[in-house]
Amino acid sequence: VTEILNVKDLNNSYENIVKGAQYLKNGEVVAIPTETVYRLAADAFNEDAIKKVFKVKGRPQDNPLLVHIHKLEQVHDICKDIPKEAEKVFDAFWPGSVTLIFNKKDCISDTVTAGMKTVAVRFPKSEIARAIIKESKTLLVAPSANLSGKPSTTSAKHCYNDLNEKIPCILDGGSSSIGLESTIIDMSTKDPVLLREGAVSVDEICKVIPNLIYKKNLLSVKDNEIPKAPGMKYRHYAPDAPLTLVEGDYIKTSKWIKESANEDDVVICFEEFLNDFNDYQHTYSLGSFETLNVAAKKIFDLLRECDKLNINHIYIQAPNNSGLGNSIINRLEKASAGNIVHI
Ligand code: TXA
Ligand code: MG
Repeated sequence: VTEILNVKDLNNSYENIVKGAQYLKNGEVVAIPTETVYRLAADAFNEDAIKKVFKVKGRPQDNPLLVHIHKLEQVHDICKDIPKEAEKVFDAFWPGSVTLIFNKKDCISDTVTAGMKTVAVRFPKSEIARAIIKESKTLLVAPSANLSGKPSTTSAKHCYNDLNEKIPCILDGGSSSIGLESTIIDMSTKDPVLLREGAVSVDEICKVIPNLIYKKNLLSVKDNEIPKAPGMKYRHYAPDAPLTLVEGDYIKTSKWIKESANEDDVVICFEEFLNDFNDYQHTYSLGSFETLNVAAKKIFDLLRECDKLNINHIYIQAPNNSGLGNSIINRLEKASAGNIVHI
């Protein structure tokens, strides 16, 4: 069985952080909390440990891993050709939930980057996450701590459901405060390119990087195309039952779901519309549409709740496509495998 160690309080649980770090030093894979989602960590300089990450997760070999650092200087240990303008991006967003891609130095192996010449670097905001990296005395490769294709994990319990008996240890830092993965920006190109919408909204990024290239079609690619961020080509975040994402004006989408869903289907909608679904057996609230950070925090947990039910179909009311709403829509469109209704 996988051991779960409490690290919720940095000062009082330091011995558990040291224990987790010891596993990492020994080449083991450990699930670890961050402010975005839980991650499956291993020593970035131990080839066997890196391969274990791919194996445990069932991750395709051509999907590169993020490297996690705990202090800014470390970006220079693993990356080269860092442009001058990166400084202001570091100032604005690091530590934080933005992942930056630069040309890699030779010390980062092709196994980490799936043969790419660039490496994605994440400097998490979570102090617990940083303490774990620091204690491990190395850098950590770490993709999200879910089985490949399943919804991301935002609690130790989610990790346990996916990874029990596959890894020796899960560090429990409570539920992730943001609940959505980091925003990824490729800084290795002349103008920076947004590769994944995420925890920090595009509007916030553009304030610091006005020349950011942001193309919708870059973010969602078909199976036969070569995507800029390889992970984007896979069906992702998916619950077991088919999911229909309903986009458009809130009043219309609620009405459409009511007309289309059976009473034993799952309906996930904003709090303001819950009353429309009093006759339904499984309704879940995304919180108010005024507070999309609440929806971001809940969404992966709700998708995982659906897997516990014996149901035929899931209907989700999409948020508006502004700010964090874009990032939530991106995850749900992937989870729906293209099953999207726009009204
Ligand atoms: O918030 C997060 O970023 C979380 C937490 C755990 O840190 N991690 C995460 O990892 O979401 P993962 O592996 O689920 O997603 C990383 C994405 C993948 O789509 C991968 O293909 C892409 O980053 N990626 C990694 N290295 C890359 C590179 N050198 N160039 C382009 N894309 C890269
Ligand atoms: Mg992931």
